[in-house]
Amino acid sequence: MTAQAHEENGTGSDYAATHLNGHYSEAEAEQPMLDKVQPPCYAQIIGWGYEVPDRVVTNHDLEQVVDTQDEWIRTRTGIQERRVVAVSEETTASLGTQAARKALEVADLHPARVDLVICATSSPEHFFPATASIIQDNLGLINAGAFDLSAACSGFVYALSVARAQILAGDAEYVLVVGSETLSRWVDWTDRTTCVLFGDGAGAVLLAASDVPGGVTASVLGSDGSGAELLTIPAGGSAAPASLETVSSGSHYIQMDGRAVFRFATRIMADATRQVLDKAGVPVSEVDLVVPHQANKRIIQHSVLRQLKIPEDKVYVNVHKYGNTSTASIPIALCEAIEEGKVAPGDNLVFVGFGAGLTWGACAVKWSVPIEQPESTWWKNTQRQATYQAAAARSMWKRAIRRIYSQVEPRAMARRPVRRPEEEQPTP
Ligand code: COA
Repeated sequence: MTAQAHEENGTGSDYAATHLNGHYSEAEAEQPMLDKVQPPCYAQIIGWGYEVPDRVVTNHDLEQVVDTQDEWIRTRTGIQERRVVAVSEETTASLGTQAARKALEVADLHPARVDLVICATSSPEHFFPATASIIQDNLGLINAGAFDLSAACSGFVYALSVARAQILAGDAEYVLVVGSETLSRWVDWTDRTTCVLFGDGAGAVLLAASDVPGGVTASVLGSDGSGAELLTIPAGGSAAPASLETVSSGSHYIQMDGRAVFRFATRIMADATRQVLDKAGVPVSEVDLVVPHQANKRIIQHSVLRQLKIPEDKVYVNVHKYGNTSTASIPIALCEAIEEGKVAPGDNLVFVGFGAGLTWGACAVKWSVPIEQPESTWWKNTQRQATYQAAAARSMWKRAIRRIYSQVEPRAMARRPVRRPEEEQPTP
């Protein structure tokens, strides 16, 4: 992605100067942010990336595990295979880190310049700390705040909306939005009604403050908690803390009323798409690409295709390759659509999702940046490698210092003189 290419696409030299040149500068990261962000401001997607585990589990593989058939899964869901984490080192944070790293590389942005990382996930590394904090540490995002966002499969759209708001408010200049999942670790592999549906993976986008009109132009978020029990992991939280009973009854696995979720999803996908297009002032006929949550091909057909009458070639579908990767499904689909040349500057895009909660959300995007990848020179790659190695070394050093303190401090405390009661200060 070059400044010249950007100008040729008519998005202006200011944008090129601000966002396409010198991203990889640590010196600039030192500038106070308020000097850099001036209204009017837009939230542009300037980087993207995804990561999926290598291990492929086909429908035929599942036939060996549960009472199911490839034909049933294909005709009811459109899924043919999914990716599943194979080793303990592959986690929600590791997949998210790789996806986010690729997004930074596409944008050619130094990690120190990121102000905030939001990780949308339904299968976090831990209850706490946030998976986003682990990603922040892995990538050396030393100036970034980090938090996880829980809105089930709608999480990516929610996170994008929050990131946009942070940018428009002038509170952040660069925000990484990650959707990452290892739902295979929350699936009951003996339950054919759920285990055939889900897969693992991660996708990320980098949002930047820009003076070029476009980017994420509108968002719609919704929730109907009366449907909370339709799709849930019943145990492991405050309502049913982990116990021998919750474990033996399988209450830590995903449980779902598939038909009810199907009915909700087909209605809400169409409604949310209509609403967000209204907000953005874009007629349905001018939509170039819908990137819907990839849960089930039939849901996409019943909602976006039939109800909105958007033609098939304008709706991106890759559920056959990955199954439902929850918060990761929209960013993975976006990346593949970009790879296949289905996204170009000037295009009107819609991201629309639904999930447990029940929740739903949609974002309208006016794509405004060129999609050519930056030329990756030997020097640039070495620079990046050094940056990530420095981040790992920094993290190890901080851990080591903490360990030393934890050894030294108790002894120092023990040596502190004990005050006699008469020396105590009176409490006010
Ligand atoms: N293989 C073979 N048969 C299966 C099966 C499987 N993996 N899973 C269920 N069945 C059986 C059922 O037991 C049922 O048998 P029965 O009629 O003898 O009781 C039959 O298939 C039909 O089940 P039903 O639940 O009515 O199927 P469906 O057409 O509604 O499809 C889903 C099931 C789950 C694919 C569909 O409801 C769905 O996609 N719902 C939305 C789920 C979703 O997207 N969740 C994530 C939200 S983010």
